[in-house]
Amino acid sequence: MTSTLCYLNGEYLPLAEAKVGVLDRGFIFGDGIYEVVPVYGGRLFRFGEHMARLERSLAKIRIPNPHSREQWLERCRRLVGDSPGQDQMVYLQVTRGVAPRDHVMPVGLTPTVFMMVNPMKPATAEQRHQGVACVTARDFRWERGDIKSISLLGNVLARQISADHGAMEAIMFRDGFLTEAAASNVWIVHEGALLGPPKSEHVLEGIRVDLLRELCEECGIAYNLRPIAEADVRAADEVLLSSATKEVLPVTRLDGEPVGHGALRGKPGPVYARLYEAYQRAKPAMSI
Ligand SMILES: Cc1ncc(COP(=O)(O)O)c(C=O)c1O
Repeated sequence: MTSTLCYLNGEYLPLAEAKVGVLDRGFIFGDGIYEVVPVYGGRLFRFGEHMARLERSLAKIRIPNPHSREQWLERCRRLVGDSPGQDQMVYLQVTRGVAPRDHVMPVGLTPTVFMMVNPMKPATAEQRHQGVACVTARDFRWERGDIKSISLLGNVLARQISADHGAMEAIMFRDGFLTEAAASNVWIVHEGALLGPPKSEHVLEGIRVDLLRELCEECGIAYNLRPIAEADVRAADEVLLSSATKEVLPVTRLDGEPVGHGALRGKPGPVYARLYEAYQRAKPAMSI
């Protein structure tokens, strides 16, 4: 694992040998952003969309993009090519760089670029067939969840709340309305439609937010982004998570209560099943 190749500031080297200075602003302030790109069969899924979000995150925190899209692609491919076989995740991170500690953004710093590849850990067959448990929590994070920041302490604390309860995720509410989970977007199904919260500064725009709209169109499922009250989540027919690793995943227990109604109470629902199938079909077509 530690002998796998990573990329650091222009060099490819074994992960165990990669070192950054302690004054790197990523280490000192969490002053940086990241991306996680899934790789299926050696090809990068929704690469253009991931690059567009990387560009947005960088612009929002005023770090110049150190590479062109072609350069990012070339580096991703080199790392992917080095790790044979199974599906993978490319992790890439850009921090503002190394400088004497001062909150103010120094001018003219060279950003630190780090990239690594890890094997993908997909959901298990049991998780897909039975669904997963989640807990709810107040969204106590900062108000710029739209930036894919490496400062993840709030998300770490939220995810740990769920781990302490043996659950997969913490589904969060701000002022009584659904935002997202610690490391996933959250969806509900109501009267056959897939509903998610509106795009805002409180929610990361997951790459699957637009992807699910496309898949819903393909499957003839209504799709709408609108404010979702906590009561709507608890009364939903289905609750789903989406993320690069989870793809789409059914939530069948929320705070210990079964999700859904009637015969499907506590079981993955039909909208999940159709979106999961559509997702699998999309992989080859949307990878480069
Ligand atoms: C806080 C948060 N929201 C949403 C997502 C889902 O985003 P994506 O679909 O791009 O993986 C993630 C992914 O890790 C996340 O960390």
